[in-house]
Amino acid sequence: MRNPPPQPIRLKDYAPPDFLIDSVELFFSLHKSKTRVRSRLALRRNPKGRSGAPLVLDGDDLTLERVSLDGRPLDREAYETGPENFKLAQPPEGPFILEIETLVDPTANTQLSGLYRSGANYCTQCEAQGFRRITYFLDRPDALAVYTTRIEADKSEAPLLLSNGDLVEAGALEAGRHFAVWRDPYPKPCYLFALVGGDLGSISRDFTTKSGRKVKLSIFVEHGKEARADYAMDALERAMRWDEERFGREYDLDVFNIVAVSDFNMGAMENKGLNIFNDKYVLASPQTATDADYAAVEAVIAHEYFHNWTGNRITCRDWFQLCLKEGLTVYRDQEFSADMRSRAVKRINDVRTLRLTQFVEDAGPLAHPVRPDSYRAIDNFYTATVYEKGAEIVRMLNTLIGAEAFARGMEIYFTRFDGTAATVEDFLSCFAESAKRDLSQFARWYSQAGTPVVEVATRHDPQTRVFSLTLSQSTPPTPGQEQKLPLEIPIALALFDAAGNKLALETNDAKADEIAQGRIVLSSETRTLRFPNLAAAPSVSLLRGFSAPARLEPPVGEADLLRLLAHDDDPFNRWQASQSLALRSIFARVRGEERTDDAFADGLGRLISQSNDPAFTALALTFPSEADLAREQGEDVDPDALHAARKALRETLGHALKTSLAKILERLTEQGAYSPDAASAGRRALHNVALDLLAAGDGALGTQLAEAHFNAARNMTDRLAALGTLALVGGDARENAFARFYEEFAEDSLVIDKWFSLQATIPEEATTRRVLDLLAHKDFSLSNPNRARALLGAFAAGNPTRFHARDGSGYALFVDAVISIDPKNPQLAARLLTSLRSWRTLEPDRRRLAEEALRRVAAVPTLSGDTNDIATRALA
Ligand code: ARG
Ligand code: ZN
Repeated sequence: MRNPPPQPIRLKDYAPPDFLIDSVELFFSLHKSKTRVRSRLALRRNPKGRSGAPLVLDGDDLTLERVSLDGRPLDREAYETGPENFKLAQPPEGPFILEIETLVDPTANTQLSGLYRSGANYCTQCEAQGFRRITYFLDRPDALAVYTTRIEADKSEAPLLLSNGDLVEAGALEAGRHFAVWRDPYPKPCYLFALVGGDLGSISRDFTTKSGRKVKLSIFVEHGKEARADYAMDALERAMRWDEERFGREYDLDVFNIVAVSDFNMGAMENKGLNIFNDKYVLASPQTATDADYAAVEAVIAHEYFHNWTGNRITCRDWFQLCLKEGLTVYRDQEFSADMRSRAVKRINDVRTLRLTQFVEDAGPLAHPVRPDSYRAIDNFYTATVYEKGAEIVRMLNTLIGAEAFARGMEIYFTRFDGTAATVEDFLSCFAESAKRDLSQFARWYSQAGTPVVEVATRHDPQTRVFSLTLSQSTPPTPGQEQKLPLEIPIALALFDAAGNKLALETNDAKADEIAQGRIVLSSETRTLRFPNLAAAPSVSLLRGFSAPARLEPPVGEADLLRLLAHDDDPFNRWQASQSLALRSIFARVRGEERTDDAFADGLGRLISQSNDPAFTALALTFPSEADLAREQGEDVDPDALHAARKALRETLGHALKTSLAKILERLTEQGAYSPDAASAGRRALHNVALDLLAAGDGALGTQLAEAHFNAARNMTDRLAALGTLALVGGDARENAFARFYEEFAEDSLVIDKWFSLQATIPEEATTRRVLDLLAHKDFSLSNPNRARALLGAFAAGNPTRFHARDGSGYALFVDAVISIDPKNPQLAARLLTSLRSWRTLEPDRRRLAEEALRRVAAVPTLSGDTNDIATRALA
């Protein structure tokens, strides 16, 4: 265990490794508590390294058994070992073979990093620094080697033995043991190593790549759950085909294996040829998974598969370049889902996530650039900023240079950097070349933290009939970055007249062509556009499609929003208008103003009757969450006031729209067999949102309808949505439904996670007690990350009024749990603790309580490095 956290590691100190590892042979003898690992490394000095440097290998929690150099056992005096490394002061000048034998205890490994047990199976997680918990190694992404892995185990315990690459040999051994040898011909860093041993069921399919390579695709899951992997398999095939068509990328081994495990710190891992998944992102059936779960399975399956090129074939030089693989791969999976489903709906959902996670991160003490320049605990940098904002940068690049130059740049990248460990500069150089354009200002998106604000000022002169639009940018200070420079911000725009007609964008500007197409780039601090010949001030639709991860200020006026809600032909901004109208009303209510919201209700009513895209309509009727409201307010937040105002708006609209909502329910009653496709999911989403809003306006009717819906539901989407509505209306109906849900799904941990989550988010005083009881429930466990997140993560992120309870009771139970998790699983504890990062935006009393809570964590003397890093930065 690393504790206290090590000194910061800095990008500017990067130096190539002193040694190169040409090949690695690994021999595993699997055992529940004493797994023997022998590693045979072919090493030589790196001509680019420091001459005469010692060989230093990383290690963590290893028991060293023996070492030999070029076949000769080494005396204890010939090397040095500490808790974190292995050192040969004077290694041979020429190439040499180093063999190291270590013992590891997979059962005691509760951190879920390195080799560990999940249920009855052995599995690994090596990114970012788990491989050093398996054997001493150059645990850094720029040390690429070719791996051969031999695994031995009891055949009865682990009939299945998997590792990276292709299977080259397998057979029986004496005493009930057996073995398998895997060889991965592609050089890779050790974070992409994987091993699985166990007894699992599987489904397989043959896939032929476009150039004719036959690949056997397999997904391994718990016995009895094979059928629940069908959708993941289907998504995998579609992702493989899509990557061939859209990016020209083909798969490169004879097998592609996916293993689902139930104990996993993150979503999934792209190990070469052997992806290991949190089973939440593999298993799906109509009875157990919601439409959102299906979409997430599809996205994560695609994401990990896409890493085969963006991450594996081309990896990262160092962990500062994490966004090079993650941001780019998220962009790729977003585009895939957009092509598989509704592009507009996908974009809206991605932006909702971005704002809810990344904007909040960027506005608080944990803000960091997409490419950070220092870190103490790398596992804490698998953030929304690296992933989500990283993807936005790639998207902006496409917008900025155009799809054609973007596609050529990607092609250059894939060709030129294949087999290497690359940097963000390498990546950008490909697009500078394909677009024949300087990208040095654009590169600031990678190095500058904080969400840029685009300030909008408009003026219309009836005399001259000139409408002028001034856009100014600024980026607020973030930790360690006081001064910010202007960014290149692509801004898509349109103008609408009072009747809702889209106006031609005529200017006398030097860049009139660009403007006419509705795309400009704001690269200086301020830019003014003048549109002559406008009789009246138009409504401005800006940042269409969310063309840049920025915030617009000041908020658009109500009349303009109503016009955009009715007429904007950009679905994103049409949705944005509904959100902005809701925000205006809620904040007016917070200020104590009386609101009727007739015009807003009318606008929504028209949208309901005119829209032929149910998924979109559902999103327009989903108002900003309490977390969204807190982020928008940004200071002096009182969660109770936000909750009350939001509830009041929903009550008003639910009441005003009663007839339209009831019609939706009639029209969209589920018929026929369940299908997870986007159109069917959209109809379910609209039905369920309508029911929920109707219940907000009329509790008695809502309860009755939600109970009926719950009882009639034949799939998890409807079931859970009805339960969610009942959770809000309360009473016996709710308690009965929760009890029945539990009885029905008691054996199904992924479904029981939902049961825990939903209860944790009930916005009522009694929930604190309920959560304490659930922490003591026989099915609860702090050691399973999904379960811990289901209860504690949902409570902290999804129940602002209880988490931030005035008496500090929410923080108390949360911090107690984080402190208990930390010694077992620091990554999980650290991640959960980030829920307190926005403490400075709270009103003074809660701010004090939240700060005390964070200080209580920071004061734990045995705190892990990961959690210490979050607590310290959050308090700084
Ligand atoms: N590379 C994985 C992905 O596709 C994430 C693994 C990160 N794991 C960790 N412990 N930091 O997103
Ligand atoms: Zn990834």
